[in-house]
This record gives sequence, structure tokens and C-alpha cells, in this order.
Amino acid sequence: MEITEIVKNFFESAQWVKEPVGLYEPIDYALQSGGKRLRPTLVLMAVKLFGENPEKYVREAAAMEVFHNFTLLHDDVMDNADIRRGRPTVCRKWNDNTAILSGDAMLIRAYQMFSGLANSQYKKAVELFSKIAIEVCEGQQYDSDFEHRQDVTEEEYFNMVRLKTGVLLAGSLKMGAMLAGADDEDAENLYEYGINVGIAFQIWDDYLDCYGDEKTFGKKPGGDIACGKRTYLLIQALKRGGVSQQLTLKQLIDNESILPDNKFEAVMGIYEQLGMSNVCQEAMDEFYNKAIGALKKIKKSDEEKMPFVEFAKKLMGRTY
Ligand code: IPE
Ligand code: IPE
Ligand code: MG
Ligand code: MG
Ligand code: MG
Repeated sequence: MEITEIVKNFFESAQWVKEPVGLYEPIDYALQSGGKRLRPTLVLMAVKLFGENPEKYVREAAAMEVFHNFTLLHDDVMDNADIRRGRPTVCRKWNDNTAILSGDAMLIRAYQMFSGLANSQYKKAVELFSKIAIEVCEGQQYDSDFEHRQDVTEEEYFNMVRLKTGVLLAGSLKMGAMLAGADDEDAENLYEYGINVGIAFQIWDDYLDCYGDEKTFGKKPGGDIACGKRTYLLIQALKRGGVSQQLTLKQLIDNESILPDNKFEAVMGIYEQLGMSNVCQEAMDEFYNKAIGALKKIKKSDEEKMPFVEFAKKLMGRTY
């Protein structure tokens, strides 16, 4: 069976709802609302690359998706977001408390999904999973701290997105590699590939939050500008803009008395002047190339590694 099929079947047949429904219905709502299922796909792609049967590890792969969805429930509270995957976020359909508690239950559930592993594998898997989970929290905290700072550097941005986004994608790959018994060097190179794909992915997520189409992207563009996120676009615009553009941007971003739509339009005007679309494209290409460079070092044939080239290619310049 194809990996995407294996993942799809798992989520289609999984039962999340039980009593009390107030806790479990939002979990089902989140997990059945689709999404790209990138993280479990990556786990199983790595399992396959290193010679194991992907079907054997679908539960552990799915755990990464449950964890990812937990982060989204909390992220939407933190980012005050209305729409995800074309539907109201859990914090809007229910409320913030529901998003917090159902999110907590999802994190715990994700841990439980490793319990079928043999002892030696279980210990390693849970250690890796915990490391990923805590690093995502670190990334989210930086993301939040940066909202109040005007001097965030490019390096700080890359570190923040490595943690909040890169580590989970890369860690999913490492999880798969570890479960399939890859050697440490190959597992590390695959992790490095994942980190670079992840940074490119987040740069493009920032881009789509400005230039995306709500229908295909599934999220409402403008959210990042509305809450003053230090996105790749903002950091680059502040770096590249002339003195007056920088000043205008700084005044706009932290001014809470401007209506969000007006703020979006004004900031986008500056992004247009500075050609931010191209800037994002170039940065994404750079990280894509780094990812492919790391992939090349893995001791497997080009043919076996092709799915990873295709995976990265498909994500670059995505519209969803
Ligand atoms: C959204 O991740 C959060 C980011 C790291 C940008 P995805 O874009 O993978 O979300 P879904 O699961 O496909 O909806
Ligand atoms: C997502 O960053 C990172 C995590 C959820 C850990 P964003 O806040 O940009 O993700 P979206 O755009 O809401 O999906
Ligand atoms: Mg966020
Ligand atoms: Mg968000
Ligand atoms: Mg985003």
C-alpha cells in the first residue's frame, strides 16, 4: 500500500470520540479535518527508506500527527486565529478553554500511541519525541516573545522557525529512521534534510499568510500582520527597506489603533515595493538546496531517495 493510503486509512478508521464529548469532539474535529498529513508521511517514508514495512509503524507515525494537531489547537489560541483548514478553529467553534484542554489530551494521547513498541525501541522513541515536543514549545515561546521586539535578527528568526516547525518535520524523519534501524549518520543527515525543508516550509507559510488565497490555503491571510508576528517578510522588509519604509513599517506593526484590514493593506504596500515575493522565493530555494545537499549524503541510491526530492519539491511554492 502507498504511504499516503496507509496514513489516510488510519485516520479514517480511528475513533476519537467518547465521554465526555466536550473533551473528545474537538479532537475528532481537528483530526478529521484533513490537513496535509506531512509528519506521519515523513515517518513512514523514512521507515521505508531504511528497509522496514511502513504499515508496521503507522501508529507511531500517527502519533506525530496527533501531536502536530495539538500544537495547532494551542497555536490558534496564541495567534487568535479564526480559520484553519477552511473551517473555524477549535478556539472559535468552541472556546479557548476547550482548545487548551482538548489540546492537552491530544499531547497525552500522542505519548500513548508509542506504547506498542518493544521496550528498547520505546525508550528511544519517547526520548526523541519528548525532545521534539519541548523544542516546539521553545520555538513557540520565541515566536511569542518576538512579537514585542523590533530588533529580531534573521538568525534569531531562523532559530525560532527551526524550533517551532523544522524540528517536528525533521524529528518525524528521525523517528522513522530510528524505528527502522538506520545508522546514526544517515539518521542525522535525514534530520538535517528535514530541518532545511522545515525552514523553507515556514518561510512559505509566512508568505502565504500575506499572499495566500483563503480558499486554497485554508487559513485567513493577514493574521500574522494583525498580531505583529516577526515573519520572514517583516524581518527582511525591515532589513532591506529605506529609512522611511522602515519607520513606517515599525509604526504600523505595533499600532493597535489601526483597523486590521487597513494595517494589512499598508504593510502589504511596502512588501510590494520591496519585492518580498521574490525575497521569500529565493530564501526558500536556498533552504531547499541545503535540504537536497543533506539528502545526498545518505548512503542510499538516488532512486530510493527520489521520494524525498519529490516531497520537498511539492512543498516549495505550495498554495495550500
Ligand atoms: C501548519 O502546518 C503549521 C506550520 C508549521 C506552518 P501544516 O501546513 O502542515 O498544516 P496542516 O496539518 O497541513 O493543516
Ligand atoms: C506554526 O506557526 C508553528 C506551530 C504550530 C508549532 P504558525 O503560527 O505560522 O502556523 P499557522 O500559520 O497558524 O498554521
Ligand atoms: Mg503561531
Ligand atoms: Mg498560527
Ligand atoms: Mg503561519
